[in-house]
Amino acid sequence: MEKSKYIYGNWKMNGLLGHVELAKAVEAGTIEIGAQNVEVGICPPFTLLKTIKDGINSIVVGAQDCHFTESGAHTGDISAIMLKEIGVGAVILGHSERRTNHFETSDLVAKKAIFAQQSGLKTIVCVGESLQEREAGNAETVVLKQIIESALPELEAAKLIIAYEPVWAIGTGKVASNDDIREMHLSIRNKLIEIFGDSGKDIPIQYGGSVNAKNASEILAIENVNGALVGGASLKAPDFLEIIKAAATL
Ligand code: PGA
Repeated sequence: MEKSKYIYGNWKMNGLLGHVELAKAVEAGTIEIGAQNVEVGICPPFTLLKTIKDGINSIVVGAQDCHFTESGAHTGDISAIMLKEIGVGAVILGHSERRTNHFETSDLVAKKAIFAQQSGLKTIVCVGESLQEREAGNAETVVLKQIIESALPELEAAKLIIAYEPVWAIGTGKVASNDDIREMHLSIRNKLIEIFGDSGKDIPIQYGGSVNAKNASEILAIENVNGALVGGASLKAPDFLEIIKAAATL
C-alpha cells in the first residue's frame, strides 16, 4: 500500500542501550495497528543506530545528522556512507537545534542533503521560524527562504521529506494554530511545486513541534500535513503509537 502519512520520532540526545526495547515496542505496536499507509521511522542517537537496526525490519531507522562528504579529516562527524552501510534509511538535516547550536546554514543543509541522497538515504529537511520572526510577521518569508536555500532542485523529490517545525513550538508544549499550520503548509507546498514541478505535489510535509497523543489527529487532518516529526512524545511507546494510530485512521 502506498504511504500517505510519515511519522518519525526524533529521539535527540536521548537513549541508552535500554532504549532498544522502545524501538522494538514501536515496531511491534505498528504491526499490531496495521498502519500500512503510514511510514514510521525512529531516529535514535548514532550510538544506537546499528543495534536498533539489527533488531528491526519493518520501520525506518534514521539518523539525526551527517556530513556532506564521504570520508576524511572531519573529527567527530559521521558520513552518509557510514549510515547507509549499517542499514540506516533516512537522516534528519537542518533541525533547528543544529541550526542554532551548531550554526548550520541552509547552504550547509543543502550540501548535506545532496550527498545523503546520493548515498541512498531519504532526507528530512527541517525548516521553521523563531518566535521573534513570527511576531514580526516574517514567518512565511523566513521559512520559504529556508526551503529555497536547502531544498535545491538537484535533490530528488522522491527521497525528500520537509519538516515544518516552528522553533517556538519545539519542546515547549505550544502548538501552532490549525490556521497557521494550514497556511504555512500550503505556502511550502506551492514553493515545492515551483522548485520540483509536478513531483513537488508528492513531497511529504511533516509538522513538528509538541505533537502528542492528544493533538495528533487534529493536526494530521490539516490539508498538506502529511505526517509529523515527533520529539518528546516519541520517547514513550504508548504515546508514539497513539500518534501512529491517528495517522493510520486518516
Ligand atoms: P517536540 O520536538 O515534539 O519535543 O516538540 C519536535 C522536534 O524537535 O522534532
